[in-house]
Amino acid sequence: MRKILLAAASIAAFALVGPATAQSPIVIKFSHVVATNTPKGLAAEKFKELAEKYTDGKVKVEVYPNSQLYKDKEELEALQLGAVQMLAPSNSKFGPMGVKDFEVFDLPFLLPNLASLRKVTEGPIGQTMLKKLDSKGMIGLAYWDNGFKQMSANKALRMPEDYKGLKFRIQSSKVLEAQFRLLGATPQVMAFSEVYQALQTGVVDGQENTPSNMYTQKFHEVQKYTTLTNHGYIGYVVVVNKKFWDDLPADVRGQLEKAMKEATVYSNEISEAENVEALDEIKKSGKTQIINPTGAEMAAMQKAMDPLYQDMASRVGKQLIEDVRKTTQGVTN
Ligand code: LMR
Repeated sequence: MRKILLAAASIAAFALVGPATAQSPIVIKFSHVVATNTPKGLAAEKFKELAEKYTDGKVKVEVYPNSQLYKDKEELEALQLGAVQMLAPSNSKFGPMGVKDFEVFDLPFLLPNLASLRKVTEGPIGQTMLKKLDSKGMIGLAYWDNGFKQMSANKALRMPEDYKGLKFRIQSSKVLEAQFRLLGATPQVMAFSEVYQALQTGVVDGQENTPSNMYTQKFHEVQKYTTLTNHGYIGYVVVVNKKFWDDLPADVRGQLEKAMKEATVYSNEISEAENVEALDEIKKSGKTQIINPTGAEMAAMQKAMDPLYQDMASRVGKQLIEDVRKTTQGVTN
């Protein structure tokens, strides 16, 4: 795969930013792993529309959804090598690159609602975190929402002990790994594009994701139970190859920044409704039994996961966790 990436990168090097002419627009390849009819998929399309409009065709955005070009880990390598210019990986996927701060968003029950999340991403904490990506050859342009995660498995999940002995697919985050270990389950890191088949064939027993991701990938069709836990959050950082971005003509970069700003507003406006609608469709399908956990069951889950804050402090940053808690205290939707 590395060879293919290198070949793609050298081809991409020829296509790197030169003065745009009517014949040769600047091409932004925007790769992502989810379906088009998801918050991220729709926001990427919105960015394409606005970027092409504001640059008057000087920029062409090619969106590649559904891991068509690259899977999770490969897409980050491809971005660093310049084989693609733009991505929007979930926060959970930056850890293996050495930027562990983003795993703070994986801590269960840390962010009770979207308003508290916004206080973090739009304030100094979120902006300081984006700056950390510069040293990895990428620039963090924006935070895009997906939503809150639900648990699913072929077994009814209500209490912490229900997770014991089951295998769960996780994203590549040490916090998520520790979360499932605390529950006595076995976590398995797996690319998003491989999850449906892994669930269908029993390679893993369960997974956690947003209703939108579950519905558009048909996870609900191969999971007997879905428990509405809202225990954690999935959101994205839109990243661009740093050299590509820095080399853009200033006026074009300004137009793209405007397009990104507006696409971000759009993304964060539609995400909640997209997830509500997806959950409705999942319910209507009748293919998975929906479990609404009781207050006592949720309290037990929260208690079981609480040691994570201590265990993960050295990885994610004790100060960062405290800062997020302070920033979100008392914030209601
Ligand atoms: C996942 O891997 O479960 C998600 O991060 C996929 C995505 O990009 O929403």
